[in-house]
Amino acid sequence: MDKLKEILSGQSKDLKVLDVGTGLGFFIEVLQESLPGYSSIIGIDTKKEALNKAIEKYKDERIKFMCMDGENIEFESNSIDVISISNTLHHLPNKEKVLSEMKRVLKPKGLIIINEMISNNQSEKQLSHVEVHHLQGEIDTLLGICHNKTFTEEELVKIVEDLNLEKVDMFQYNTHEEQEKNKNLEQEKEILDQCFQALESKIKELSNLQQHKKYLEILEKLRNKLYRIGFFTATELMIVCRKI
Ligand SMILES: C[S@@+](CC[C@H](N)C(=O)[O-])C[C@H]1O[C@@H](n2cnc3c(N)ncnc32)[C@H](O)[C@@H]1O
Repeated sequence: MDKLKEILSGQSKDLKVLDVGTGLGFFIEVLQESLPGYSSIIGIDTKKEALNKAIEKYKDERIKFMCMDGENIEFESNSIDVISISNTLHHLPNKEKVLSEMKRVLKPKGLIIINEMISNNQSEKQLSHVEVHHLQGEIDTLLGICHNKTFTEEELVKIVEDLNLEKVDMFQYNTHEEQEKNKNLEQEKEILDQCFQALESKIKELSNLQQHKKYLEILEKLRNKLYRIGFFTATELMIVCRKI
């Protein structure tokens, strides 16, 4: 992620970094690469199973994981240098509370990094990802798990503007054009296979028989359509802001 590294290149050493909604810790790799001066990176999430997998993955003793709700971050105010949230905002029932907690624990002049896949201005192949993702969200919601539709670019920009922070930079990546350069049809098919397997097992969890039948039918239609169209991942938007 060269662009993020460039934006963060002026950051000093001994940084205390926090990643909210860390899940399996995917975004920590980006933080490690873009902020080589970190003294600690702490990933927090409410899901213990995900955190256990993340703990297995990272052997660096400066990286720690804690089971903690982003709505109630158990760190002192003004104590963190850089705080990130990646592909998590659309999973939150109360994103305003989480964002306000993130802002509280951030030091003055500290940085917030917001990274989200977006739902608009996507190519037909990228819309495959958006459709699969929104279907996952619909089924998760029926299963009682908060998983909203992903935001449009404009919605995301508005959420960030409402935080009253100084905007440092914003860029898109994973665009259709970037993926077109390295496209691999075999790999696309494999990703679609995995998506449909994951959707099928989610549908199995639906105990209501009518819902179960309805979503299996939707899945079959989607399967036929997407294997014809192909699959690219949705463009992501990265926004970096500074606490005033
Ligand atoms: C799609 S995952 C994103 C994982 C990772 N950040 C990434 O970019 O791949 C969203 C994560 O948000 C977590 N989450 C949802 N609500 C949360 C909350 N209130 N506090 C902390 N984590 C939360 C979920 O458990 C899930 O692991």
